[in-house]
Amino acid sequence: MNVDVSFLDSKNWIESDMRERSQWLREHDPVHWSEKDDLWIISRYEDVASISKNQDLFTSAHGVRAGNGAKLGLIDEGEPRHGVLRGLINRGFSPRMVGKLEKDFREITTHAIDTIAKDGECDFVSSIAVPLPLRLIAALMGIPQADYEQLREWSDDMIGAEGHMDDMEIVAKGGAAYVAYGRYVTTIIEDRRKNPQDDLISILAGAKDEGLLKTFDETESLGEVTPADHLSEGNLDLHNDELIKLLVTLMIAGNETTRNGISGGMQLLIENPESRQQLIDDPSLIGGAVEEMVRLSSPVQSFSRTVVEDTELRGQKLEAGQRVFMLYPSANRDENEFEDAEVFKVERNPHHMGFGLGSHFCMGANLARMEMRVTFEEVLRRLPDMEYSAGGPVITPSSLVRTVSEMRVKYTPEA
Ligand code: HEM
Repeated sequence: MNVDVSFLDSKNWIESDMRERSQWLREHDPVHWSEKDDLWIISRYEDVASISKNQDLFTSAHGVRAGNGAKLGLIDEGEPRHGVLRGLINRGFSPRMVGKLEKDFREITTHAIDTIAKDGECDFVSSIAVPLPLRLIAALMGIPQADYEQLREWSDDMIGAEGHMDDMEIVAKGGAAYVAYGRYVTTIIEDRRKNPQDDLISILAGAKDEGLLKTFDETESLGEVTPADHLSEGNLDLHNDELIKLLVTLMIAGNETTRNGISGGMQLLIENPESRQQLIDDPSLIGGAVEEMVRLSSPVQSFSRTVVEDTELRGQKLEAGQRVFMLYPSANRDENEFEDAEVFKVERNPHHMGFGLGSHFCMGANLARMEMRVTFEEVLRRLPDMEYSAGGPVITPSSLVRTVSEMRVKYTPEA
């Protein structure tokens, strides 16, 4: 098996190759020095978990996207600032707000299924997986429905730039989307300052006015390479505004991940008809099945950390300043951690690395779980015999998010 490839380059994330490569690494070289990327590749569950739980030794504060020096905010923040930001955003994730969002989300799901139920076939990705989380995250932030389609385009372009730093056209598109989205949310922020609502942008705009969110120094925030490299001077203020960065992080974190969790989950149900029948017979299993879907589909492919002081891991000497690159899908299929690791078992209800671990554990995990549970409750109830109509899912290689770009399906049309 050729493991001597760049793991940072999205082109190398052809799924079957990467699975084989990861399996080889777990078995033969779990802490692997990648010459091409100049960092350590970590493939075993136990190691990914212990690194994630130890910010003192493996910090997020120098960035979590190796190969992309742009500071994102929150996810790549050190303590104590990280805790302050989490506290702020948590105000928007109160149980009351999440309860209200479940009601909204079931309506959004019902509407999306109504649109395709009579047709007997559709592209599951564009009809179900893409619109649902996008609408929810937009509703959470307080973005008007009329702008959802535009939001999807910006989100796709920003995430599309990841792992393609050698392709200036793609990078420029990502940068332009960042600027356009930043300008757009600035208008919403201005509005919420005058007319606060029950949404996250109002909460964060209030926090900024209280002085809790800052404006970076431009040189500090620009890092080495940034998707917004071509930013003209007039746009630097967008790039340096912590509030806008948080809104970018949240949109991408809440949208691209969950959408691919939903597509990946549907893929597992279609490819495991007996398990699907189990869920149809006993819908109370869906919560646990969602965990198993996140484990096996692992929507986030990788994040990195920086070594704080010299240390050793499985006999390898890790030096201060070096990067470690954690392979989440590999950790989630580690045969040392999970029995029959490759098998989808709806009753397994596993612990897993799909949402990370430790102080940077996914803030939206409960929201994502709710979204996936509601989606599958409704799809299994109304379109229980969904199957592929054309060859299975199309997956666009990405080092960041497992991206299902198309999945044509058919089913008995609703009367
Ligand atoms: C299936 C869906 C999702 C998956 C697989 C996922 C995965 C992850 C992972 C692996 C991390 C850990 C990052 C690290 O340790 O460096 C993370 C962090 C985060 N996620 Fe999610 N996520 C999902 C959905 C969401 C949603 C719906 C939201 C928001 C509405 C969200 C917001 C965040 C935020 C803000 C962080 C950063 C937390 C911090 O650094 O303290 N995620 N997510």
